[in-house]
Amino acid sequence: QHCFTKSSDGYLYCEGLKVEDVMETVERRPFYLYSKPQITRNYEAYEEALEGLNSIIGYAIKANNNLKILEHLRQLGSGAVLVSGNELRLALHAGFDPKRCIFNGNGKLLEELVLAAQEGVLVNVDSEFDLENIVGAAKIAGKKVNVLLRINPDVDPQVHPYVATGNKNSKFGIRNEKLQWFLDAVKAHPNELKLVGAHCHLGSTITKVDIFRDAAVLMVNYIDEIRAQGFEIDYLNIGGGLGIDYYHAGAVLPTPRDLINTVRELVLSRDLNLIIEPGRSLIANTCCLVNRVTGVKTNGTKNFVVIDGSMAELIRPSLYDAYQHIELVSPAPEDAEVSTFDVVGPVCESADFLGKERELLTPAKGSGLVVHDAGAYCMSMASTYNLKMRPPEYWVEDDGSIAKIRHAETFEDHLRFFKDL
Ligand code: LLP
Repeated sequence: QHCFTKSSDGYLYCEGLKVEDVMETVERRPFYLYSKPQITRNYEAYEEALEGLNSIIGYAIKANNNLKILEHLRQLGSGAVLVSGNELRLALHAGFDPKRCIFNGNGKLLEELVLAAQEGVLVNVDSEFDLENIVGAAKIAGKKVNVLLRINPDVDPQVHPYVATGNKNSKFGIRNEKLQWFLDAVKAHPNELKLVGAHCHLGSTITKVDIFRDAAVLMVNYIDEIRAQGFEIDYLNIGGGLGIDYYHAGAVLPTPRDLINTVRELVLSRDLNLIIEPGRSLIANTCCLVNRVTGVKTNGTKNFVVIDGSMAELIRPSLYDAYQHIELVSPAPEDAEVSTFDVVGPVCESADFLGKERELLTPAKGSGLVVHDAGAYCMSMASTYNLKMRPPEYWVEDDGSIAKIRHAETFEDHLRFFKDL
């Protein structure tokens, strides 16, 4: 069951609400529209897949940091994966249990690590200098830090180079041949560090479970090596979750159950506590960016649908050449013809497109057009370029009603940065 469905007469619905009707009631367009029940269903798919294992689902907050969404995921039992001091503060504000939070990153600052040490979150060690800083933070906080070593297993994730992280030239993690240095360094700081596990993250948008399996095999070998030196470590953290079906072309992609089942025996055989850090697969397909068509034009040989949304609200197509599915929320006029369009925004540069070469029925001026799968890495990567202020967010509640979950950013918000200077 998926939250966005098209009726036989050509209207898009979100959990029983006609998107066109929602457009009439909200404060400003474009806006993000989520389904709360879909977030629950996505979380429960991981939870059910993990049944019978000791585990933590650490939601990667970078994918979407809406406070209402965080509180909902926390209530469902989620932990949180954090990559900055502010993400850590927000997770605490949303009530996440620090023991189910993991602080990750290749450039963690000393003051961020002090906060992590004080709060007792798990911390991933990324480099020699990172380890030094964690020791320093433990001393300042007067607390021992539970750490995992982020090992770079050198497995090719077969994804866009910008979202690949587990290969040997990546800026993330420690090279496996340096492992002994890190184990010795942990031993040298018994009052500051407790080694509790090993972490790897290969990359994002992975849609083949074999890749996770290959990495997990290497990781349990490292864990065997580490345990052989007397460390009692429990956690295997296999990093981010699955990719999703951005194309909407009927592909059958692996489910969380497929993913967990490929590593289940390995995890059980070593009596490990499995951490997984999904972002995209929990939140991406729960949301559309809802836009209005400003007009249609043709230049040279190209046709354009110009909408009010843009690369400022949703940058993935511009930045990664990412495909996100686009469709109209209502039937096009009866005489409309199918043409090939670039769907573009009003921002002053040619990188501003939401979709290229899309076959669409020529939409009427003012009609609604959605960009699908906009829940992950869209609002959290939005900017105010061209002073397009960040859009509001809404979700459909469990009872089918619509609720605002984030205010629109305003022009006055921008002026505030210059007040009293
Ligand atoms: N854990 C770590 C250490 C990560 O670096 C990431 C994502 C995740 C977990 C979550 O991965 P997921 O389950 O979402 O695949 N902005 C890009 C994606 C960047 C991903 C960065 N790291 C995009 O829009 O596609």
